[in-house]
Order: sequence, then structure tokens, then C-alpha cells
Amino acid sequence: MSLRLDVFTLVPDAFGWMRERRPLAGILGSELDLRVFNYRDTTPLTAGQVDDEPYGGGRGMVLRVDVVAAAFDAVYGGTPEHRVVALSPQGRQLAQELVEELAGEPALTLLSARFEGFDQRILDHFSTDVVSIGPYVLSGGEIPAMAVVDAIARRLPGALTEGSGELESFSAALNGGLEYPHYTRPADFRGWSVPEILLSGDHGRIDAWRRERVRSVG
Ligand SMILES: C[S@@+](CC[C@H](N)C(=O)[O-])C[C@H]1O[C@@H](n2cnc3c(N)ncnc32)[C@H](O)[C@@H]1O
Repeated sequence: MSLRLDVFTLVPDAFGWMRERRPLAGILGSELDLRVFNYRDTTPLTAGQVDDEPYGGGRGMVLRVDVVAAAFDAVYGGTPEHRVVALSPQGRQLAQELVEELAGEPALTLLSARFEGFDQRILDHFSTDVVSIGPYVLSGGEIPAMAVVDAIARRLPGALTEGSGELESFSAALNGGLEYPHYTRPADFRGWSVPEILLSGDHGRIDAWRRERVRSVG
């Protein structure tokens, strides 16, 4: 197994569909071991409680630090030694470079929260990285966690058809740029025609045309 990826969440069902679709379907049980844990299953509090009101007042509920500690005790017998990525809009923004780095780890834990987010001590003492998927606020960390899982899975051996992940946006093969446009049949639709050169069969010229259309980011 090249990567053991653990996700802690309050909505474990959200991850079900991912297992049946590529890229995960092709590598689960070989290159990827994906485990999804519900904080409620190991909470030390009664009635499945996992969050509490913020000290100092204010609206919303905050994920408790003792709940994450109990989840880690149950799964790892303490604080894991591998990287723990907490998903938060306040974190470092996810980019392909970080994806490549995370895909090279042997083990990784993702922490998601809901409502007002994490007790700061979870970020300070249980997390090695705090990562955002963009400058906007979602209702929970499940979609961000799925984005990270999918982006990492694509980079694991066997996830994609041979070579298809090498030449795409942000890849080294395109100097980190954005991929050229693609077209498929029909060659003409409502007068919107495919560039002639792509129908020419001249692979040297097609390659040059494509390279000219790689755009830089930003
Ligand atoms: C409603 S948000 C909390 C927002 C937080 N109170 C703030 O203002 O920064 C609840 C949870 O969703 C997740 N989340 C929301 N937006 C995110 C983003 N852009 N990137 C990563 N995680 C996000 C995080 O796990 C966060 O703790």
C-alpha cells in the first residue's frame, strides 16, 4: 500500500460514492487504503456530543479538542506521527504542489469540522498543516476533504490511464501552466468548427499548436 489516508468527519456517508468511481475505484486496496471515521463513534461525551458553545460567547458550535483526542486514541493509540491536515478556510491554499507533496506521504490524516469549526487547540497541537480549498466558506469540511482525497488519488500509481496525469494543468510537463483546449466530434456543430489543424493528422504541427495555447496561471 503506498498511502493510508484517514478522514475524520461528522458525515462519513458523504464519502461512499467516491469508492465506486475513478480514480479511487481503481486503486483502493492496492495503492490506497481509505478509512473514514466518525467523531461521534469515539466521543467521550454522552449522546454523541462532539461540539460545544464557544468560550467568550457568540453563535455556533465548536468541535471539541477532547473529541479529536479520543478519536486519535481509538484509531492510533495517541497522536499520530504522520502528517495531519486540518481543513479550514483559514489555512494555506491547496495547490498542485502541495497535492504532489501529500501524495508522496506514506500515511495522512484529514480532519474536517462543521458549524463554527475547530477548537484552536486542535489546529495548534494535533495538526501539522491547515489547508483551505479556496477563499470562500463552505458549511463543512467534507467537500474540502473529498477534493483533497481526489486530487491525491489521481497522483497515485495506477489511478489514471498511463500518462494521462502527466500532461495536464499545473503539471511540470506544461511548466505549471494551464492546458490547451480540447475538441471532439462532431467537427462542426452549429457552425462552431474545430480548428483545422487538429484534423490535419500532422502531429508535429498539432503539438506546436497545443504548446502555443498553454497559458500561464494568473
Ligand atoms: C462554516 S466553516 C467554519 C468557518 C469559520 N468559522 C471561519 O469563519 O473561518 C465549517 C468547517 O467547514 C470546513 N471548511 C469550510 N470552508 C472551507 C474551505 N474553504 N477550505 C477548507 N475547509 C473549509 C472547515 O472544516 C470548517 O471548520
